[in-house]
Amino acid sequence: MDLSLQSKRFHIHELPAQDSSDVLRQDVQEGLFERPRSLPPKYFYDDEGSKLFDAICKTQDYYPTRTEAKLLQEHVASIIDVVKPNSCVELGAGTSAKTEIILSKLNSSLDSFSYLSIDVCEEVLCESALRLLDKYENLHVESVVGEYIPAIQAAPKLKGPVLYAFIGSSIGNFTEQESIVLLSAIAKKMNTEDYFLIGMDRVKDKGVLERAYDDSEGVTAKFNLNVLNVLNYKLGANFDLNKFSHQALYNESLQQIEMYLVSQCEQDVTFPTLDKTVSLEKNEKILTEVSRKYTKSSIKNLFEKSGLQEVEHYELFNKYFSLVLAKKKM
Ligand SMILES: C[S@@+](CC[C@H](N)C(=O)[O-])C[C@H]1O[C@@H](n2cnc3c(N)ncnc32)[C@H](O)[C@@H]1O
Repeated sequence: MDLSLQSKRFHIHELPAQDSSDVLRQDVQEGLFERPRSLPPKYFYDDEGSKLFDAICKTQDYYPTRTEAKLLQEHVASIIDVVKPNSCVELGAGTSAKTEIILSKLNSSLDSFSYLSIDVCEEVLCESALRLLDKYENLHVESVVGEYIPAIQAAPKLKGPVLYAFIGSSIGNFTEQESIVLLSAIAKKMNTEDYFLIGMDRVKDKGVLERAYDDSEGVTAKFNLNVLNVLNYKLGANFDLNKFSHQALYNESLQQIEMYLVSQCEQDVTFPTLDKTVSLEKNEKILTEVSRKYTKSSIKNLFEKSGLQEVEHYELFNKYFSLVLAKKKM
């Protein structure tokens, strides 16, 4: 990054060895060269992927962003009343667009407050920090470029009470076991005065879910395909994006959306940096993202196992999405 961006009100921290090409190589070896084929969703988010995700959030079909924003607008005053935060820490902050609902409220009530944003995408962290600092004169931003758990563990100490936020339904990208590990790491970092705010997408009609992940404007398809570009420029692979199609299916028994890239023909893709070739059959699928959907009871159950307890559970009349405020279990 351009270090001149760092200022009295903005510091950016990079974790050593985060997202190194070694980790990427290993993930690709384990995911793409084994069957069933898969890739971790974190590789969607290069600069272009973050912009495409932002565009997905603005599509008509992607209801989670609108719904979560509505819940935040309706309940921000009572959340702040309960938590009385002096700082906010956000995991997977992205553009921080919805977080602004919280930050603008804090800016009007506090002389000084801190926002620590964590994300794997450095570009999105810097762009958001500059936008936020320009708008909120009482704000100090610390950004950590890195993966959730190491970043939260390395995060500088901030003035409490701290509101930890994990919105955007990003928890859904993890298996039950991985979610417990991640939420437990957050609970461990929290003090007794701190709170945790999480956005979780709910089980609902299959058609609504599949449209949200295969929008009619084709933005999610571009977002999905972009991961192949990331592998092309980071590992020198030669994926031809025209030879793949996007697919989003709701797996009702596992209560999760599964996003795939489907090979349109028999093809070989070479990875010179790995000295390997992957041979794909026609219609062979690469799983690129799972997005788990929750019920009220599965949310409670997950919290139980992660050392958290619900304080408030916010939802709209259509029960499309849950915004849950929690504390560390005593
Ligand atoms: C689904 S988007 C949500 C963005 C934003 N919080 C929202 O609600 O719109 C997930 C965000 O988490 C980041 N991310 C994905 N995997 C990550 C990981 N393993 N560690 C840290 N950040 C990650 C992405 O770069 C992206 O900005």
